[in-house]
Amino acid sequence: MKALLVDDSPSSLLGLQRLVEAESGVVCSAHTDPLVALQAAQAERFDIALVDYEMPHLDGIELTRRLRALPDYRRVPIVMITTSASDQVRLSALQAGATDFLPKPANAIEVRVRLRNMIELSGAFCTMSDQVAWLADQVEAATRAILEREEEMILRLARAVEYRDNDTGGHTVRVARYSRILAEQLGLSPLSCRSIYLAAPLHDVGKVAVPDAILLKPGRLDPDEFEVIKGHAAIGEEILGGSRCDLIQLAAEIAGSHHERWDGTGYPRGLKGALIPLSARIVAIADVFDALTSTRPYKAALSTEEAFAYIGAQRGTQFDPACVDAFLAAAPRILAAGR
Ligand SMILES: [Fe+2]
Repeated sequence: MKALLVDDSPSSLLGLQRLVEAESGVVCSAHTDPLVALQAAQAERFDIALVDYEMPHLDGIELTRRLRALPDYRRVPIVMITTSASDQVRLSALQAGATDFLPKPANAIEVRVRLRNMIELSGAFCTMSDQVAWLADQVEAATRAILEREEEMILRLARAVEYRDNDTGGHTVRVARYSRILAEQLGLSPLSCRSIYLAAPLHDVGKVAVPDAILLKPGRLDPDEFEVIKGHAAIGEEILGGSRCDLIQLAAEIAGSHHERWDGTGYPRGLKGALIPLSARIVAIADVFDALTSTRPYKAALSTEEAFAYIGAQRGTQFDPACVDAFLAAAPRILAAGR
């Protein structure tokens, strides 16, 4: 236990120091100059402070106020020693942050009793502070672990869907990255950008329900087969729907609406314009851009210039104009993310 003692009278200070050090385990740092005492308090944290009221340059009330303003001294017991019984002085001391008062000259028994109470108070506060800090660390670590696990589970599930599609070229990861860049370019909050980044990889989860003969067919699909493929949007929404988790709700929204078109000719609902959730309007562009720039068994990849030109040409028909503008504006970052 470290105690800070401040009294401009050397003899009073020595007397007080003797009384305080009579308590076992208390080490004193005694000062006649309050400004020097303040510097000592800035250099190390004391567990308790006993300060005289009447001192030249800086009285006990101002010293208490300055001690309380230090980062580590919000809860440290500060006892004011005063000959003045004036209520005004006591009130000012309390307002400045004093915890208790001691009369001057100090009575040995009274100092002992008060000091013991203050030491207990200070000890209890230190223990509580340590526990609060420990609990805060634990909560932070647990939250971080949950977020990491959430991200890992989503990316692994998305990879499983990707294998089903015979596509292990990282389509879902690139769509996630493009979607996040587009969300950032649109000025969405960091939390929304992260959520879209994590939910986007599940946009095609409904493909698990599409038969291999159709999903893996190398040639062109006939109209009936295309209808079956189109079902993946609604199935994906159903697989992910009804969750109480915000992130999975967002993933359901994206899965269900990423093939809607701005002009209302998309599927499954034929939603038009702003009725299509923004998250799905974002992922729609990211998904198409990546499909265009990827080689498939039935088609060669377009160059990135050609793909950007296609996205630009679909402004206001297939895609949200604002999203297209933002996507084109973010082209350098999109290219970097796709490498
Ligand atoms: Fe899709």
